[in-house]
Amino acid sequence: MKNRTNVAAALLLASIVIGCEDQGDPVTPPTTPTTTEVKFSTDIVPLLTSKGCIGCHGGSGGLTVTSVASLLTGGNNGPAIVPGKADSSNIVLKLRTPPPFGQRMPQGGPYLNTAEIKKFEDWINAGAKNN
Ligand code: HEC
Repeated sequence: MKNRTNVAAALLLASIVIGCEDQGDPVTPPTTPTTTEVKFSTDIVPLLTSKGCIGCHGGSGGLTVTSVASLLTGGNNGPAIVPGKADSSNIVLKLRTPPPFGQRMPQGGPYLNTAEIKKFEDWINAGAKNN
């Protein structure tokens, strides 16, 4: 009698374990690992520099892109970044086409590719940390 209970318990346990394993897989893993944190200092600043943003938005009036604080202050059209919301952040919208106002950035191009724009999106969606 006791033995049968144990077998039943073992079977139940096994089916729970197998059942759990079954649920693990249907989600396809993302192509780029989301665990790699995008940092302002080592990812965003180098892009702002190499893409010429700092040449035009380096602090001589209007939008200044050289610090997280100045991006939060933004320009004529409000904050350039909204932490956690890339799709509401002017800096991202201005990198995409069509821009919500004015011209696509960097003004005159060459424009950023999808992977480069995604760095801005990931950094902002992760909270736009000053890291
Ligand atoms: C050749 C100069 C130039 C370069 C390079 C440039 N910008 Fe701009 N940017 C402007 C001008 C002029 C405006 C205002 C007119 C407009 O919105 O199109 C502007 C506006 C903006 C705005 C909107 C500010 C506001 O609140 O009105 C953002 C955000 C922005 N730029 C981001 C960038 C980023 C990011 C880069 C680099 C990828 C960049 N810009 C490169 C000239 C430049």
